[in-house]
Amino acid sequence: VTLTFGTYARYYDLLYRDKDYSADAAFVRSLIERHAPAARRVLELGSGTGLHASLLASAGFSVHGVDTSDEQLERAQARRRTLPESDARRVTFSKGDVRSVRIAEPFDVAMSLFHVMSYQTSNEDIRAAFTTARTHLRPGGLFLFDCWFGPAVLTDRPSIRVKDVHDGPLSVVRIARPSMSAADNVCEVHYRMFVRDRAAGAVEEIEETHRMRYFFETEIRLLFDQLGFDFVAAGEWLTDRAPGFDTWSVYFCGRA
Ligand SMILES: C[S@@+](CC[C@H](N)C(=O)[O-])C[C@H]1O[C@@H](n2cnc3c(N)ncnc32)[C@H](O)[C@@H]1O
Repeated sequence: VTLTFGTYARYYDLLYRDKDYSADAAFVRSLIERHAPAARRVLELGSGTGLHASLLASAGFSVHGVDTSDEQLERAQARRRTLPESDARRVTFSKGDVRSVRIAEPFDVAMSLFHVMSYQTSNEDIRAAFTTARTHLRPGGLFLFDCWFGPAVLTDRPSIRVKDVHDGPLSVVRIARPSMSAADNVCEVHYRMFVRDRAAGAVEEIEETHRMRYFFETEIRLLFDQLGFDFVAAGEWLTDRAPGFDTWSVYFCGRA
């Protein structure tokens, strides 16, 4: 078994430093303002290195993040320590699996960002993750997540990609080799990374496989029905365009 977000986590922020987390956080705020304007307490499922949580805390929300990866949690805690005391007080993290974690308090919003739900590849996994969201929401609370969107993934199928990033003495080349399987709506992305630390003069090779499920609106509606969510909205991540054959990343909102 390959550990997902093991060693890989060490280079997560470097690999995604071009991702506009501020734009993400602003978009999340706009969705919360539209659909749950009184919301203050947010549960983040799969909080990664904690950047969304920190940005939302700066905007006045209190956020509890859970993640299974010790490496990701360590980075999230380190980031928390860099925040102004008043913001840091509103952010907490704990180790937990989004399929089973139970926290003894209700939340106004359960959110899961940057495809964490696509990591829940089996029907059992996704049902369990949605149940976690449902269980923690007070009545009327908002569930918000983004995922790979089936119609677009099948239209513009994933292909081999190379990413090349540098930070000081560190350079990372990552080759992503996807393979699709028609039976289960899953794309298996095999990552091979070459990390060069010019100071140490060594090259490290890391391999990880991430299994990603793409979802269709009909199955999200079915799951929402089954698990006690009203369907609220769906749209392209960041633009809010109607989901279509060219919207790879789509968000869904449900109301508890
Ligand atoms: C692509 S990262 C996204 C992290 C963060 N939300 C962000 O936007 O940067 C996926 C994250 O989901 C976490 N994850 C995946 N499956 C999980 C599970 N079943 N329970 C908890 N965390 C999970 C991984 O450890 C990783 O940190």
